[in-house]
Amino acid sequence: MAGPFSIPGTTIVVTGGAGGIGYALAERFLSEGAANVVLADRDADQAKRAADELGERAHGLALDVADEAAVAEAVARIEEAHAPIDLWCSNAGVAAGRGLGDDADWDVSWRVHVLAHVYAARALFPRMAERGRGHLLVTASAAGLLTNLDTAPYSVTKHGAVALAEWLAIRHGDEGIDVSCLCPQGVNTAMTAGDDASAATRLGGDYLEPADVAEAVVAALHDGRFLILPHPEAAAFEQRRAEDRDRWIGGMRRAWHKIRRASRQG
Ligand SMILES: NC(=O)c1ccc[n+]([C@@H]2O[C@H](COP(=O)([O-])OP(=O)(O)OC[C@H]3O[C@@H](n4cnc5c(N)ncnc54)[C@H](O)[C@@H]3O)[C@@H](O)[C@H]2O)c1
Repeated sequence: MAGPFSIPGTTIVVTGGAGGIGYALAERFLSEGAANVVLADRDADQAKRAADELGERAHGLALDVADEAAVAEAVARIEEAHAPIDLWCSNAGVAAGRGLGDDADWDVSWRVHVLAHVYAARALFPRMAERGRGHLLVTASAAGLLTNLDTAPYSVTKHGAVALAEWLAIRHGDEGIDVSCLCPQGVNTAMTAGDDASAATRLGGDYLEPADVAEAVVAALHDGRFLILPHPEAAAFEQRRAEDRDRWIGGMRRAWHKIRRASRQG
């Protein structure tokens, strides 16, 4: 279990911060009084534009989270330029691959949704452990607790993200390092802009706005909760899955038939 995290005066990094959920997190952290928020994104121009919009406490940084050396260098540079990193939001994500996808889809999903968090932990945790404090927030997905019927690479690697976040929370809690895991269902961002009425994510219910997700994150950081569920119904879905896996798979099969019927008619 994470301890309460107080935002005012902190230095925070948000990967995938150029848009969507990452941008909303950065905006909210700044309005809560963070001293520095670094928006790190492989889309360097957009990260810089986003930081310019958010004012002088926001800083854009070009970063590919799947490049371990670049992550290590970013950590060192940010700590030198600003202050020790209090919170790293490992939020960058990709929607790669329909169905079973191809090997390139699996590779990029594994690198961005799992290895990127490993790289962040390798670079940050020794520093945080030495200070006796620090927080890593992993943006996984409700797909990592349940499943996303549209894409196996996304769903499986998000399960990996949840498992890794749990492992890190358990293994590093004694060092004063807290970990939390953000698992939204659908959110209106560039990633879901192409979702039509038959998108499997719509099964879970209404899409939230990125600002709603940021609201849930700030509340969970304040309460010191590991699992952050901006759609509270995801907790009930996960419970039903755990209670009776066969019944859950049967229900999901029926849902899949419904989606396929709707997309044939649409
Ligand atoms: N939108 C949803 O419905 C939803 C639901 C659950 C979880 N998520 C997760 O939330 C996170 C944010 O997604 P979003 O919806 O805001 O999408 P988005 O596409 O708006 O933002 C993702 C950002 O990640 C950046 N990115 C991708 N690969 C990168 C890399 N290798 N290095 C650095 N940056 C990289 C992109 O440039 C982009 O700015 C992702 O991890 C996503 O999987 C999204």
